Amino acid sequence: MVFGPFFLIAWVIILVVGLSLLGGTLFATTAYSVFSGAPFLPTDERNVDDMIRSSGLKPGELLVDLGSGDGRILIAAARVGARAEGWEISPFLCLWSQWKIRRAGVADKAKVHLGSYWTETFRQADVVTLFLITSQMGRMEKKLRSELPVGSRVVSYAFKFPHWELADKTGRGVYLYRQTERKAP
Ligand SMILES: C[S@@+](CC[C@H](N)C(=O)[O-])C[C@H]1O[C@@H](n2cnc3c(N)ncnc32)[C@H](O)[C@@H]1O
Repeated sequence: MVFGPFFLIAWVIILVVGLSLLGGTLFATTAYSVFSGAPFLPTDERNVDDMIRSSGLKPGELLVDLGSGDGRILIAAARVGARAEGWEISPFLCLWSQWKIRRAGVADKAKVHLGSYWTETFRQADVVTLFLITSQMGRMEKKLRSELPVGSRVVSYAFKFPHWELADKTGRGVYLYRQTERKAP
């Protein structure tokens, strides 16, 4: 089969438009994630284990990871028998983590929502994990203190909340908080 110059030009246009859309989406979501939460930087596996252990996560409980990145915390939570839900702003990380979850064989327990955690409420979570940046910790503290049920735990990697009293520091930057009462926002 012989392709004329029309097909060649059409393919070049499709390629250029496709790559621009891909690059634009990547740029926009990365910029938004830096502005609204934190850029993608995965928690190292040893600290993932520390976070799960210090939260006291039990089989059947619901863990929510705010900004779930490549899904490593969700997979670790599902492996202890918990239900795990992540919110992730980047479509690429969302797809990648969904693929990792399927490959790990825990798709019945773990799922990822594409979207911003600022637009969701987390009234059902038993455990919340997060790895944000300092400038977002005050806003997130107010949100979680007004939404989470009493008895739930929050584990923050690397950064502390400005006012919430620490329940435990388990080492290597893993900070544990307990919701003792719901506070008005
Ligand atoms: C520092 S990474 C942590 C990833 C993962 N939780 C971990 O510990 O390995 C922060 C993640 O939050 C995501 N993120 C940033 N802002 C967000 C927002 N407003 N809503 C949802 N995800 C967001 C980023 O795309 C990134 O994947």
